[in-house]
Amino acid sequence: MYEKLNTLLILLCRTISTRKLYFSKHPKVKQLSIDFIEKHRDFCKEAKIDKLFIGIIDDTLVFEGKNLVGPSIVGRQLIRFAERLHCGGFSFNDKTTVDEFQALLDIASDLNESTESLKLSRQLLEQKNIHNIDIAQRYMGPSGPMTRDQQSVWHGQDSGDFLHSPTLIYQALFDTVAQAYGDVAGGNDIDIDSTRSVSEYMLHFTRSHFSDLMQHVHYPDFDSYTVGHSVRVASLCVFLAHSFKWPEESLLAIGTAGLLHDIGKSKVADDILYKPGALNSEEYETIMEHPRIGAEILLGQKNTTPLDIAAAWGHHIRADGSGYPSQPEWAVRHPFTSLLQICDAFEALTAVRPYKPILTPHMAYSIMLTDKGGFHPSLLASFIGAIGLYPPGNRVEISNGSRGIVTAVGPILDRPKVRITHDREGTQLPPEDQFDLNLAEADNRSLYVEELLFTSQRED
Ligand SMILES: [Fe+2]
Ligand SMILES: [Fe+2]
Repeated sequence: MYEKLNTLLILLCRTISTRKLYFSKHPKVKQLSIDFIEKHRDFCKEAKIDKLFIGIIDDTLVFEGKNLVGPSIVGRQLIRFAERLHCGGFSFNDKTTVDEFQALLDIASDLNESTESLKLSRQLLEQKNIHNIDIAQRYMGPSGPMTRDQQSVWHGQDSGDFLHSPTLIYQALFDTVAQAYGDVAGGNDIDIDSTRSVSEYMLHFTRSHFSDLMQHVHYPDFDSYTVGHSVRVASLCVFLAHSFKWPEESLLAIGTAGLLHDIGKSKVADDILYKPGALNSEEYETIMEHPRIGAEILLGQKNTTPLDIAAAWGHHIRADGSGYPSQPEWAVRHPFTSLLQICDAFEALTAVRPYKPILTPHMAYSIMLTDKGGFHPSLLASFIGAIGLYPPGNRVEISNGSRGIVTAVGPILDRPKVRITHDREGTQLPPEDQFDLNLAEADNRSLYVEELLFTSQRED
């Protein structure tokens, strides 16, 4: 049951962050709202409850007295919203309609300051015709407000370790970047500390479960591709810096700077950013302003580092100093900016975009290797060695007809380690029957990767 609750809460939080990025009647917001209401009804039915109450104590989401530590990472917006309403939780009864839920999203999106009291917050909900969603008093135990110590803890996964949930980590990363974009667009400060703390989760996760995270980063989602792109680029940067054994203390800084590197795009109009065809010269010039604008935005924030600003400024400057914005001759390039520039170009070439077909890593490498002066040569070679022809997280078909997910690159570029998830007949294997196939081992020499399966062929 907790797994279903986990999914439901992630959907709730994703819907709140999506509503912040798009207008109220956007089809994406509507679809997510319908999904939430349907999943919520199914959950109530299965759990035999007529309302779902999610409490909030000490910045943590709570269900039936258990702290939901995992979902709380992604639920910051919900927690902040509750604070502004002076409430200790939300109760959705099984008659909640999509319209009521969307009205609540509108309030969450528009309410930038706290109301004066819980009573006034309730009146606000009434005025918006929300009758099946209640906001509760701050959560009380038998002897007053409960604290975290008085409760049992559920970490978000049965394994008990929330750091092992790629969905949560991905969603937290996505949510943080989306929030930063929303903050800039709304003229508010970016919560750099939150970005840094979510970057820390990414770091813990990337060390051992990079391929799991990268699977989630393959969203074929045009609307949000700038946000998805930033998460994917940041994850790649952290993975590579870790593979290159760069100092541990630099990894957190690299992840944070990677998440924010394209923040200047929050000031570029959507019709240019998402234009399906080629850009005209005026539009291209507008796009070329985003590194400068991004650096300026970050310069004006508290708690940013020189690396955050250098990354935003320099990620479209090429190894030979050309590119944009123009680089003063005295400027010294930080190795991280060179790595970010490579990850950024690789992601842009291999990801789904409205204006171009998807390319395989092999095609991307051939473009990058023949682009003289484009990239730092030895860093690009190391990058290719670490990512291989079948990057971790990608789905592949093996020559014997089975399919799986690449988990590691290994010593031979085209012979990765693959977790086999589907047998030769195409039947999905239960988790306990899935196994690792290391194509670099002599015993497996007769097998090879037949095909890289693209995002549209993804199976969850
Ligand atoms: Fe960029
Ligand atoms: Fe970028």
